[in-house]
Amino acid sequence: MIIAGNWKMNTTPSDAGSLALTIAAADAVGPFTRNGGVVVICPPYLSVPVVAARLQPTSVLVGGQNCHWEAAGAFTGEVSASMLADVGCRYVILGHSERRRDQLEDDHMIGLKAVAAIGAGLTPIICVGESLAEREAGVTVDVVTQQIDGVVAAAGADTIRRSILAYEPIWAIGTGLAATPQQAQEVHAAVRSHCRSRHGIDVPILYGGSVTDQNADELFAQADVNGALVGGASLKAAAFNEIIRAATPHV
Ligand code: 13P
Repeated sequence: MIIAGNWKMNTTPSDAGSLALTIAAADAVGPFTRNGGVVVICPPYLSVPVVAARLQPTSVLVGGQNCHWEAAGAFTGEVSASMLADVGCRYVILGHSERRRDQLEDDHMIGLKAVAAIGAGLTPIICVGESLAEREAGVTVDVVTQQIDGVVAAAGADTIRRSILAYEPIWAIGTGLAATPQQAQEVHAAVRSHCRSRHGIDVPILYGGSVTDQNADELFAQADVNGALVGGASLKAAAFNEIIRAATPHV
C-alpha cells in the first residue's frame, strides 16, 4: 500500500516543515512503514527542500508534483527530475488532471516526463481519470485506458512498469464526492487487466479524489485499490494519520 499526500499549491516553506514533521510523528506511520507501507508527501517545489530535510530521519518519503521532460536547458519556470532527486525526492506526480486542464499537458508529454523521472531515479505517480460528462456517457474505462495507452506509447512499457498509476476521477477531486468503493474497484480492475493484457505490466494503482478518514477503510478493502493519492486530507495531520491507519491491515 502506498499513501501519497498531494499538497498542491498549499503551504509556504515557513510552515511546510512543521506540518511534515507532525505527519511523520503520527502514531499510524511507524507500524505502516515498518510493515512495508509507503508514505509520500508531495509539497510545492519551494517547500520540497525543507520538507525533505525534516523527513530525512523519518520513514516518510518526499515527492514532487511535476517535472519537465528535459534534464536541463532553456525552459523558463520549469524544474527537472534530477533537481527534484537532488533535493531528496523519490517520487513525482505526473499528469495530474489540474495540470492537464491548466497547463494543457497531454499523454505524450506525460510519457516523456515519466522517462525523465525514471532516468533521475524517481518513481512516477501517473494520474488518469475521466470527467463527469465522460462517466455519464459510459466511456470511463475507454477514456482511462486511452490515457494509459498514450503515456505508454511515449514512454515505453519498461518505464511504466517502474511507475505507479493513480486513478483520479476529475468529478471526485476536491468535491467531497468520492467514487464509491465499487466504482473505484471497477475501474481499477479494468485498468489492471488492460495493463496486463495490452502492455504486459502490473503496477500499483492508487485511488484519488476526496479520500478522507471516513471513506478510506472501504476504499482500501477493494482488491485492486493499492493505496491513495490524497489532496485536501493530506494537509490535516490527524485525518492523514487515520487514512494511513486504514491502509495498515492491507499492507
Ligand atoms: P482531494 O483529495 O482534495 O479530492 O484531491 C485529490 C487529488 O487531486 C490528489 O492528487
